Amino acid sequence: MTRRVIVFDTTLRDGEQAPGNSLSVEEKVRLARQLEVLGVDVIEAGFPASSDTDFRSVQEIAAQVRRPVIAALARCTDRDIDLAGEAIRGAARSRIHVFLSTSDLHLKAKLRMTREEAVERIRESVRRAKSFTDDVEWSAEDASRTGLDFLCRCVEVAISEGATTINLPDTVGYATPEEYGAMFREVRRRVPAAAGVVLSAHCHDDLGLAVANSLAAISAGAGQVECTINGIGERAGNAALEEIVMAGRVRASQYAFDTGIESRELYRTSQMLSHLTGAFPQANKAIVGRNAFAHEAGIHQHGVLQNGLTYEIIEPDTVGIARSSLVLGRHSGRHALARRFQELGYDLEDEQLGGIYLAFLQLAERKRQILDEDLLALLHESFHDAPEEFQLRELRVVCGSGTATADVTLAGPYAGTRNASGTGDGPIAAAFAAVSEIVGKTIEVESLSLRSVTPGRDSVGQVFLQVRVDGRTFSAHSASTDIVEASARAMINALNKSRHAESLEAAALDSNSYWGV
Ligand code: KIV
Ligand code: ZN
Repeated sequence: MTRRVIVFDTTLRDGEQAPGNSLSVEEKVRLARQLEVLGVDVIEAGFPASSDTDFRSVQEIAAQVRRPVIAALARCTDRDIDLAGEAIRGAARSRIHVFLSTSDLHLKAKLRMTREEAVERIRESVRRAKSFTDDVEWSAEDASRTGLDFLCRCVEVAISEGATTINLPDTVGYATPEEYGAMFREVRRRVPAAAGVVLSAHCHDDLGLAVANSLAAISAGAGQVECTINGIGERAGNAALEEIVMAGRVRASQYAFDTGIESRELYRTSQMLSHLTGAFPQANKAIVGRNAFAHEAGIHQHGVLQNGLTYEIIEPDTVGIARSSLVLGRHSGRHALARRFQELGYDLEDEQLGGIYLAFLQLAERKRQILDEDLLALLHESFHDAPEEFQLRELRVVCGSGTATADVTLAGPYAGTRNASGTGDGPIAAAFAAVSEIVGKTIEVESLSLRSVTPGRDSVGQVFLQVRVDGRTFSAHSASTDIVEASARAMINALNKSRHAESLEAAALDSNSYWGV
């Protein structure tokens, strides 16, 4: 019989906490809305005690995303639990997720705590979390390297205090599928009360086994699986949601479980995350990679043309990859554009379509054929999560042989119209120097990556940037057929975000924000 497994998405917490994936509050809310459309059951929206941004993100998601359970992570401390409780207060359905390491290695080296102290801490923290919500998840961090007797004792205590979900993570990605499945079976056998709660799997991919381990746990009775879109997360990442879901669907007779995921939303969700973070999955990534459905070898192409099943175990549209039926160009009208977006799964509001159409026409002046990837770049470019205090009015660069000069004009309500020149050892550095001169701030570039959206000499270049302004990191992106212009625009987007963050913080201080009190 097919079991329904709960999908607990931790893209916004475990995924986002990995270096390079940081998102603004607005971006997290946008992604959370898409996760709701995707059909996840639980969204772990953040770790409120870790930063003001995380606190506000959880609060906003709780207020705006109403169908899934909204979970907030907390260590086993009063402050963490209280902040988590406060952040999820407005949710339609809320959960506090408390965790404590249980392996001897972590207890000794990290927490400097005895086993007895750990048991007491679990007891008190689950009890405290229960005072905020009935739905409490307790995690035994490093469960897979914890002695089974002690692990079972901790699980018993957490359940006796009212935990409704017990998560047994393979925190360091060390377990094998056989070991990980066996741990779930043993906990179920030795802890009779475990029959009344949901057991959960949470796997990291250090040995490339996260998905295999998650599937083994499900086969051993886990009722919840914790995972991230594209498998993003600490170090080698977490188990990839799309792989677990599609393994369950495609090999239903083998695994006998299903989820509430709408698989046609998988590609869209993956693309949204990639455009937000700049981290695109490798081309051969299962389900959502650029080449996941490409057939290069002639013998394969021939087979697929005769019958898709010869070399394709999943139809691309099952995961939301639309086969291109239309190539757009300079003469394409607004209707054709709207129709192609619809085929790609995006129903755009009139106003958004109008803005994208203008950008489309500008792009069509520079590029003969506009492909789906270009349209996605235009779409993701069209979201402005911060007011456009600065806008690029003009950019001129002169460069060659290791020196460059840029002349930049910015306009906008904050800057008025201002112009400055900058120099650098290349055109991008010179443009950045000019922007920095205009805004009067030192801007440190932490990372800049460039991606060609499609093949060909007239390709759109997408620039992803992380900059440090006034001691804080902001990420932003932009796209253009001219990569110097795309870099300057990305820099300006980052500055707009930093201005927006400043004004939000000032407003929060005025209203005496709970965080930090
Ligand atoms: O990997 C892990 O153990 C975690 C816990 C906080 C659940 O992410
Ligand atoms: Zn984790």
